[in-house]
Amino acid sequence: MRTQVAIIGGGPAGLLLSQLLARQGIDTIVLERKSRDYVLARIRAGVLEAGTVDLLHAAGAGERMKREGMVHNGTYIAVANRRFRIDFRQLTGSTVTVYGQTELTRDLYLAHDQLDGQILHEVEGVRIHDADTAAPSVSYVCAGREQRIYCDYVAGCDGYHGVSRNTIPASVLREFERVYPFGWLGLLSATPPVSDELIYASHARGFALCSMRNPGLSRYYLQVPLLDELERWSDDAFWDELRHRIPQDVAESLITGKSIEKSIVPLRSFVAEPMRWGRLFLCGDAAHIVPPTGAKGLNLAASDVYYLSRALQQHYVDRDDHGIESYSATALSRVWKAERFSWAMTRLLHRFPEQTEFDLRMQLAELEYLESSTAAQTTLAENYIGLPY
Ligand code: APR
Ligand code: PHB
Repeated sequence: MRTQVAIIGGGPAGLLLSQLLARQGIDTIVLERKSRDYVLARIRAGVLEAGTVDLLHAAGAGERMKREGMVHNGTYIAVANRRFRIDFRQLTGSTVTVYGQTELTRDLYLAHDQLDGQILHEVEGVRIHDADTAAPSVSYVCAGREQRIYCDYVAGCDGYHGVSRNTIPASVLREFERVYPFGWLGLLSATPPVSDELIYASHARGFALCSMRNPGLSRYYLQVPLLDELERWSDDAFWDELRHRIPQDVAESLITGKSIEKSIVPLRSFVAEPMRWGRLFLCGDAAHIVPPTGAKGLNLAASDVYYLSRALQQHYVDRDDHGIESYSATALSRVWKAERFSWAMTRLLHRFPEQTEFDLRMQLAELEYLESSTAAQTTLAENYIGLPY
């Protein structure tokens, strides 16, 4: 088989890239290890920057999001029993859209079907060959048979645990990492959200987040110790702890219900450099991970895909390789700023086991400064709504 761009991974990054390229007449094949149902069952975040929203429209997958997505003009920061609001629209002129990644991935699959896009599911043993030459290829096993795709370029959109990143020789690859000493316990429930906008809550018992997917579906999170066990958290225990960590008036209006999903995720900051090696590009979680506190994971995957789709379009349509040559530096410049913001939000809002009394006072002073300063709020808002591409 032959294609122009072989895409490893059919998550949001791979699907979005394939869609954007297809609409420019560039041929792709997506290779995905799991089944479509499995990919669509994953519960992930759901806050989209305006740039991500624009890209989904450009990919022909924005119709339902436009109807069902919830535009949020701001967010709340709660500190112990008080809360204040950061007004994104007033401070930056822009907003975010709350729309679940599960729904977004479903829309991308449907748009892909409409264009007759090629996606091969349940492929095993994907390997990338000769990415540092002019003739790369990708081999894989499907239904017990080894197959090979010859291509011009390979896009590694296969997430943190994929194969693409480790195709780059160790002598070239640099990795930067911070692992946080806690995780997030998330709970999804078919109950109305407790607030019209998200609440990021800093509390002596640990961080909490009140989020949502739609008017009938809520998503809540609690900071928990890294080694905490899911079995220890009954639904009742979760709701009790959440009530402790959010302001009393909010806790009083919380509507609880049976959990639909409950899981613990560790928090990590991670960046791999470079994001291009020869004809192999890394996009999304394959190249970087952010702690979820800044809601940046999916949005960073989208900006990588934007830079890469533009670079490939310049290559195929304008015969100009500048975008390809600068892809890694361009993408990384935005990645590191989102890493900084995600790390700063995490540091600002969580309790760290090693925190001294001095550290706690610093945290409190920073929160008070944020509450009182338009400059500080603007800094948070412009990062949260997304830095320009
Ligand atoms: N071969 C083929 N496919 C693979 C392989 C492999 N060896 N390894 C992983 N994959 C697939 C996974 O099954 C998954 O569907 O690659 C896809 C990667 O998708 P994500 O992990 O969702 O990563 P990405 O598309 O970069 O999305 C980035 O979305 O899911 C969130 O936390 C993520 O917010 C981040 C953003
Ligand atoms: C979510 O709704 O899952 C969510 C929202 C905001 C975040 C992280 C997760 O910062």
